[in-house]
Amino acid sequence: MRRREALTLLTSAAVAAASPSMGAEAVQRRPIPGTKETLPAIGFGSSKVVSEIPKHGPAPLAQVLDALVAGGGSVVDTWPRDFANDRVFGEVIAAPNLKDRLFVTTKIDRTGKDAGLAQLKESMTLYKRRVIDLAQIFSLTDLETHWPTLQEMKAAGRARYIGVTVSQYELYPALEEFLQREKPDFVQMNYSITERRAEERLLPLARDKGVAVMINRPFMNGAYFQRLAKTPLPAFAADFGCESWAQFSLKYILAHAGVTVVLTETSQARHIAENLRAATGKLPDAAQRAAMTAFIDKV
Ligand SMILES: NC(=O)c1ccc[n+]([C@@H]2O[C@H](COP(=O)([O-])OP(=O)(O)OC[C@H]3O[C@@H](n4cnc5c(N)ncnc54)[C@H](OP(=O)(O)O)[C@@H]3O)[C@@H](O)[C@H]2O)c1
Repeated sequence: MRRREALTLLTSAAVAAASPSMGAEAVQRRPIPGTKETLPAIGFGSSKVVSEIPKHGPAPLAQVLDALVAGGGSVVDTWPRDFANDRVFGEVIAAPNLKDRLFVTTKIDRTGKDAGLAQLKESMTLYKRRVIDLAQIFSLTDLETHWPTLQEMKAAGRARYIGVTVSQYELYPALEEFLQREKPDFVQMNYSITERRAEERLLPLARDKGVAVMINRPFMNGAYFQRLAKTPLPAFAADFGCESWAQFSLKYILAHAGVTVVLTETSQARHIAENLRAATGKLPDAAQRAAMTAFIDKV
C-alpha cells in the first residue's frame, strides 16, 4: 500500500477511538478540526422530506429526525427554498425532544448581499434559532459577496461555523482555488463509491488545511440504487459488517480519513437507521476498498 493511501484511510481502531462510548455499536464521531467538538459521522439531508410536507405533512420528517437522534445522529443539512415548508420544518426541529440535540445547517443560494443576508436571517427565524450551527454558501453562489457576510455572522456569534458547498465536478476548480486562499470551517462536496474524483485533490487539500468535510450525494440522489437494482451484494461485504448497498457506499466514504460527516437524504426512518449503522463496527481497509471499486466499476 502506498504511504499516502495508508495515511488517508482510517482503520477501524482509529475510528472507534473517536467514539466517546467506545462501544462497538456506537455511531462513530469525528472531530471538527481545530476544536474539541465531534460530530456523528452520518447526517441527514432534509431537502426531499421537507419539500414533500405539502403532500405528506410533517410526520415523515419528524419520524426521520426521531430515528436520527435515537440512532446516535445529530447533523441535519437544509436547503431553504419554500417559506411555508421551512416554517413547518422549524416547528418540528423546535420540539422539546429535538431542540438541543440537532446540529442544524442552513445555506444561502441567492445572489446579492442584501438578498443573501435576508435569506440567512429568514431561515434562522423560521428554524427558531438565534444561532445556527453551520451557515453555508450553496454551490459557491455569489461567493465573493457572501463570504464576508458569513464571516460577519460568525464574528457576531450568529453562526458557530461557516462554509461552502459544491455537488458537481464542474465546481471543483473554483472550490480548490477558494480553499487555497480562505479557511472555511467546513466544505461540502459530492463523493461516493461511484463519484470518486474528490479523492484526487479536494479531500487531501481540505485535510491539509484542517477543514471539516461534509459529503453529499453518497447515493447520487438515488441513481446509485437504480444502477445496482439487479446486482446482489458481494459476499466480501460481510467482512466489514456491510448489510446493504447503502452501507456499501457509506462505508467506502467513511473509510477516507478526510471525511467528517456523510449526509444521506431520506424520507424513511428505517433508511436513516440503516445509514447510521454504516458508521458502526468495521470499515473496509485499503485492499477491501480496492475490491469494492473493482466490483462497482463492472456493474
Ligand atoms: N450543493 C449542495 O449544497 C448540495 C447538493 C446536493 C445535495 N446536498 C446535500 O446532500 C444531501 C444528500 O445528497 P443527495 O440529495 O444527492 O441524496 P443521496 O443521499 O445521495 O440520495 C438520496 C436517495 O437515496 C435514497 N436512500 C437513502 N437512504 C437509503 C437507504 N438506506 N436505502 C435505500 N435508499 C436510500 C433516498 O430514498 P428514500 O427517501 O426512499 O430513502 C433518496 O432517493 C442532500 O439532502 C443535501 O443535504 C447538497
